[in-house]
Amino acid sequence: MEASQPSGAKPILTVTMNPALDVSTSTDRVYSGHKLRCGTSRLDPGGGGVNVARVIQRLGGQVLAVYTAGGPPGEAYRRLMEGEQVPSLVIPIKGSTRQNFTVDENSTGNQFRFVLEGAELSEDEWRTCLQLVGRSISPGGYVVASGSLPPGVPEDFYAQLARLVRKGGARFVVDTSGQPLAEVLAEGVFLVKPSKRELGEHFGAPLEGERNQIEAASALVASGSAEYVALTLGDAGAILASKEGVIRLPVPSVRVLSTVGAGDSFLGALVLRLAQGCPVEAAFRSALAAGSAAAMTPATELCHRKDVERLEEELAAVS
Ligand SMILES: Nc1ncnc2c1ncn2[C@@H]1O[C@H](COP(=O)(O)OP(=O)(O)OP(=O)(O)O)[C@@H](O)[C@H]1O
Ligand SMILES: [Mg+2]
Repeated sequence: MEASQPSGAKPILTVTMNPALDVSTSTDRVYSGHKLRCGTSRLDPGGGGVNVARVIQRLGGQVLAVYTAGGPPGEAYRRLMEGEQVPSLVIPIKGSTRQNFTVDENSTGNQFRFVLEGAELSEDEWRTCLQLVGRSISPGGYVVASGSLPPGVPEDFYAQLARLVRKGGARFVVDTSGQPLAEVLAEGVFLVKPSKRELGEHFGAPLEGERNQIEAASALVASGSAEYVALTLGDAGAILASKEGVIRLPVPSVRVLSTVGAGDSFLGALVLRLAQGCPVEAAFRSALAAGSAAAMTPATELCHRKDVERLEEELAAVS
């Protein structure tokens, strides 16, 4: 059922339990007490796993996106995904797909992000997601679960999914935070992509300084929580830890417009290149290129292929 890559690369499936219809716009200044007249608005189908799938698609890979959708915003969400021609398996839910709202303040360059709580899922609904993914796993493929869990979904959902994926002979990749991250790391995954903030929260102390960051990422490898840890450090680049050692890369120099979607672009490129059989170091460079390419685009826009390819070449030339 999973999409296979044109070049014989491994199939990739993404899972999004808490997608969001992203509404973004701009206004001159944000203040209280008056109507804030906004400029043009755009709608994007957002949420971790779906974003990862959209990045893989625009970088020329094939992917299957599994996500929940409900209510009128869910309908709009599905139509946007059809417009982007991302192959999808949709799990209908009774509640309404949430909407997130991002406002760029023109006079300061500040960005305000309002992130709403998702609709509650019933036990039937989240168990259907597990079954659907379970049936779609291809041995040797990748399953990428990314984003928060909506109300009603147990905090060990990703841990349950990790177990299913391992049994199915595929590689489980996860990007989440808080208790769901703790539970899935206790189960063990192929690759985890925490940001500095998320891994700091996990260990209960801010991860300042390269030594602490390398130690934290390596600790997850040593304890068997993850074979690969891609710790992203915003404008300071990223660290990749595995049993082969630690790689550290800075970001290429880019003009930053909005870092929304940088982590998802990073992860999409990383998984795609691994699935295509790229050496880990080259895949890691592509991830940095895609993360920084996403920072170059406004608001919720993800990376563009031509920027990723240019930055990939730039990074390959200096390494
Ligand atoms: N200001 C920036 N300039 C250049 N590249 C950036 C910038 N911010 C992020 N990136 C790129 O995107 C990657 C991921 O960014 P980051 O570490 O902020 O993760 P994130 O998942 O977006 O964060 P979080 O989930 O905590 O919001 C970085 O490793 C880097 O490659
Ligand atoms: Mg992130």
